Amino acid sequence: MNKQFDVIVIGGGPGGYIAAIRAAQLGMSVACVDEWKNKQGGPALGGTCTNVGCIPSKALLQSSEHFDHAAHHFSEHGIGVTGLSLDVGKMVARKDAVVKQNNDGILYLFKKNKVSFFHGRGSFVKAADGAYEIQVSGAVEDALIGKQIVLATGSSARALPGTTFDEQMVLSNDGALRIGAVPKKLALIGSGVIGLEMGSVWRRLGAEVTILEALPEFLGAVDQQIAKEAHKAFVKQGLKIELGVTVGAIKVGKKGVNVAWINAKGEAQLLEADKLIVSIGRVPNTLGLNAEAVGLKLDERGAIVVDDECRTSLPNVWAVGDVVRGPMLAHKAEEEGVAVAERIAGQHGHVNFNTIPWVIYTSPEIAWVGQTEAQLKTAGRAYKAGTFPFLANGRARALGDTTGMVKMLADATTDEILGVHIVGPMASELIAECVMAMEFRASSEDIARICHAHPSLSEATKEAALAVEKRTLNF
Ligand code: FAD
Ligand code: NAI
Repeated sequence: MNKQFDVIVIGGGPGGYIAAIRAAQLGMSVACVDEWKNKQGGPALGGTCTNVGCIPSKALLQSSEHFDHAAHHFSEHGIGVTGLSLDVGKMVARKDAVVKQNNDGILYLFKKNKVSFFHGRGSFVKAADGAYEIQVSGAVEDALIGKQIVLATGSSARALPGTTFDEQMVLSNDGALRIGAVPKKLALIGSGVIGLEMGSVWRRLGAEVTILEALPEFLGAVDQQIAKEAHKAFVKQGLKIELGVTVGAIKVGKKGVNVAWINAKGEAQLLEADKLIVSIGRVPNTLGLNAEAVGLKLDERGAIVVDDECRTSLPNVWAVGDVVRGPMLAHKAEEEGVAVAERIAGQHGHVNFNTIPWVIYTSPEIAWVGQTEAQLKTAGRAYKAGTFPFLANGRARALGDTTGMVKMLADATTDEILGVHIVGPMASELIAECVMAMEFRASSEDIARICHAHPSLSEATKEAALAVEKRTLNF
């Protein structure tokens, strides 16, 4: 007999597993179906984020930053290091252990919240009597019936036309996170978030890294004052970033990869590398769903069409996270998952798309929330800007990391904060205060009048708020 549930969630990444837990908390019977397998073929809950995304990339960023500090920055503190060595195998194994802790943690959370987990691919069979039949295909076959379905099937790396990921020489994010030895020369295509994070990891470990980017502008979505500062820092570190390029033929041999490309001046170039990482964006995962069986509407990119509240074209079918419109971020997926569970329970779930923070975990880190200066200009909104450099922040000096600044943009009349843009140390943590301020519709004066601990990096945020009214105290 079919197993019946109030809610079936397909996909156990941050969108899906969080939706399942929240729905269970609200008293519903919930199943979550996820097909990700670990090396042994067992379940590995957490999706892209846990297995080949947020978590492993941050683990390697941390390890590689320790190595970089020991090699180049400890001496500034009077600490000498002799015989510094690198065991990439151990570093990658540590990263795998961190991933496993997270996989196991989600299994534990499912047990704690009484979410039934099915390991396998979930696909639609048919709509039946106001509910949906879902087939689970895995080591164990199952047939489930759900009154409400939440689709959270995520996304996969986009390949360059004509070049497939073999994960040995041509790598997606998956292969990029488990390179066994530092390549002498590493090429990347795409200087977006993955390109910069992965490029930083392998550069810090000693690879000669070249990133080829199609757009003429570096980090076009980022406030350009911040992007320019970050670009300067990355180039100084030794990342080669070529903008405005056209990538041509890619030849994969046994020993390396040759990438033909044309530079911004129109000159033909050849990049010879030991490995190539392709990081040119991601595509939604809908192929396994058998969406045709129930007539689920997809857009031209293959994403599931949803309204502002994550309702699909079918009654009682919802979709969240990377498989729908909007930024492909774990915390955005989670917020949508919670909101959908609450809507199913008859509550008023809400996601504020204007206050979703972005973070790029490079060194310096880049983080922002709200609108950039260019967006405000395009919208014709009158604004005031305040900036404060970490160079003038006592904690940053003590840390020995004074690159970058905090920049705050506020409405010219009401002083409401419209955007905050940070490049510098711990920007990922500093942005949280700014997100909260914007969520409460704070003014720059509110931040300027709040007591911030001294010495702390957060004082740079306060000083940027003071700078909006041209009254910084420490610069
Ligand atoms: P996913 O995490 O992709 O999960 C979808 C799950 O559904 C997967 O387990 C998949 O196997 C499963 N699935 C798909 N189809 C089926 C099916 N038919 N049946 C059963 N299961 C199915 N975001 C951040 O916010 N911060 C970061 O630092 C960050 N770093 C990243 C680094 C990298 C290298 C990458 C690639 C991404 C990173 N992201 C980061 C993005 C983040 O990983 C995604 O936005 C997030 O994972 C999306 O969550 P999701 O639940 O929508 O989908
Ligand atoms: P991206 O969209 O961030 O960057 C892709 C880059 O590739 C763009 O700059 C684009 O102009 C360029 N590009 C596209 N086609 C090209 C071509 N043919 N030749 C040269 N350049 C080309 O995508 P990325 O880096 O693959 O990451 C995917 C998503 O994963 C991100 O958008 C983000 O949502 C998520 N992510 C988030 C992270 C975080 O929050 N810290 C970390 C890593 C990924």
